[in-house]
Amino acid sequence: MSLEIKKYDVVIVGAGLAGLAAARELQVAGKNVAVITKLHPLRSHSGAAQGGINAALSEEDSIELHEFDTVKGSDYLADQDAVNLMCSKAPETIRWAEHMGAAFSRTEQGTIAQRPFGGQSKPRACYAKDRTGLTLLQTIYEQMHRENVKVYDEWYCMDLLYEDGKVNGVVAYDIKSTQTAIFNAKAVMFATGGYGRAFSVNSNAHANTGDALSIVARHGLPLEDMEFVQFHPTGLAGSGVLISEAARGEGGRLYNSEGERFMERYAKEKMELAPRDVVSRAITTEIREGRGVGPNKDAVAIDLTHLGEEIIMERLPELRDLAITFLGQDMIKEPIHIAATAHYSMGGIPCNIDGQVQKSPTELVEGFYAAGECSCVSVHGANRLGANSVLEALFFGRHVGKAIARDVDGLGFKDATEQNAQKALAQLETLLTNNGSERVPELRNELQESMTFDAGVFRTRETLLRQKEKIAELKRRYKDIRIDDKSKVYNTDLQEAIELGHLIDFSSFIVEGALAREESRGAHYREDFPTRNDEKFLQHTFGYMKEDGSIELEYADVVLGKFEVKERTY
Ligand code: FUM
Repeated sequence: MSLEIKKYDVVIVGAGLAGLAAARELQVAGKNVAVITKLHPLRSHSGAAQGGINAALSEEDSIELHEFDTVKGSDYLADQDAVNLMCSKAPETIRWAEHMGAAFSRTEQGTIAQRPFGGQSKPRACYAKDRTGLTLLQTIYEQMHRENVKVYDEWYCMDLLYEDGKVNGVVAYDIKSTQTAIFNAKAVMFATGGYGRAFSVNSNAHANTGDALSIVARHGLPLEDMEFVQFHPTGLAGSGVLISEAARGEGGRLYNSEGERFMERYAKEKMELAPRDVVSRAITTEIREGRGVGPNKDAVAIDLTHLGEEIIMERLPELRDLAITFLGQDMIKEPIHIAATAHYSMGGIPCNIDGQVQKSPTELVEGFYAAGECSCVSVHGANRLGANSVLEALFFGRHVGKAIARDVDGLGFKDATEQNAQKALAQLETLLTNNGSERVPELRNELQESMTFDAGVFRTRETLLRQKEKIAELKRRYKDIRIDDKSKVYNTDLQEAIELGHLIDFSSFIVEGALAREESRGAHYREDFPTRNDEKFLQHTFGYMKEDGSIELEYADVVLGKFEVKERTY
């Protein structure tokens, strides 16, 4: 079968909040747009965001306070121009979502209800019970369909067409048949989400394998601030399934095996509502020092029983179900067991505030855009505040969609040929025919376990060097893999093999960035360098993968602004 070349003005890869919101804007602007997604859009990981979306709506709150909390939460690594843009547009974003049909939970007075979240000065997270992301995803999905956006669901993006500083489309295959096609376009936007699956205990969907990051990196383009991986404090013990920060926002209290409300030792003022990096380290320290609970003593307890059944059923019904399903623990009757879980990637594909992807700290790639968790714009710096990611995805999704609509007619169009798909086709062929001795699930487990152990909540030079070696070993062994399913119909073995290659490649950026950053800032904690070093590291990391797979680093200035860099205490 000859390879099809489909032509669009814009191709968007990823159908979570950012991708769908951008697609809708482009369609409304009259552009010929297609969305490619390896899942059905309603299974995108945006739907798993539980607790809320931030906006300074109340009279006691202000945009400036939202900006300040975000910058302080980021340990001063966020770019303040991007933070200003996002926070100032947050109220309008909520109103837009509401007008599109999103049903937010309300106060008794009928206004949009807002709950406290970690690291925030005011209750600021607007929510729909504990299903905020799902509510928004369903709303935007409907609105995107209403505008007749073309969606290729269950299509897997393999490669980017990138030549002479310009992106001209992507190569993708239909998961149902492995039939490959070129999507030739003036502009491409990546909105592919995060990469928590590099860690064994994580809150992420199976699909969150960071594909786009490795695709970008293999073209010699940079990834930014990859060492900053967020560990959410409350994942269900063992599985890491998310128990929303809403649990702490609604009043949940953390206890160790000695019955101590241990956050008193770590964040006297904010207690359980300190930011995620602080609470995750506190929980992990309690467990490491032998004060964990549960059969393996690898968890602590969060107690919500004092809230009572009515509040739990009204505001946290999904969380209750999850704890019953996965642990057999009913939060109405007893404390439930949780521990830190890999949750979010602050780093990603570097871009400016209009989502234009950077070739270096000072140059842009023509026709290439990114938004949402796969991007690094950077509004979260070294640590993201809860409920800022849904805001980022929705706001920047729309904003970047509008920016592309503005730019796209002025972008060049280069006709693709079958030749452009050769690399992707050769990769598929190799994976289908290779008869080596290594198995994908085993390599993946080894990567995830070692990343969690040696590049997780706590890091040292020694653990990171060990992990660097482990990744080099896994890269060697990956060349010798064999998959059992050689068919072309819904070949999930094949897809998992490709995804494993991505997990290994971008993990090397996490480790190299973490090794070089000899300080502790936000979610990156070096036990051998426990303090922040602004003189040397108030800088973004840009990593580039070389032909031989090694990573070269350079640093770029943070965009500072009205908020002075200070010590960060809670
Ligand atoms: O805890 C949560 O509900 C997650 C929200 C977020 O990551 O922003």
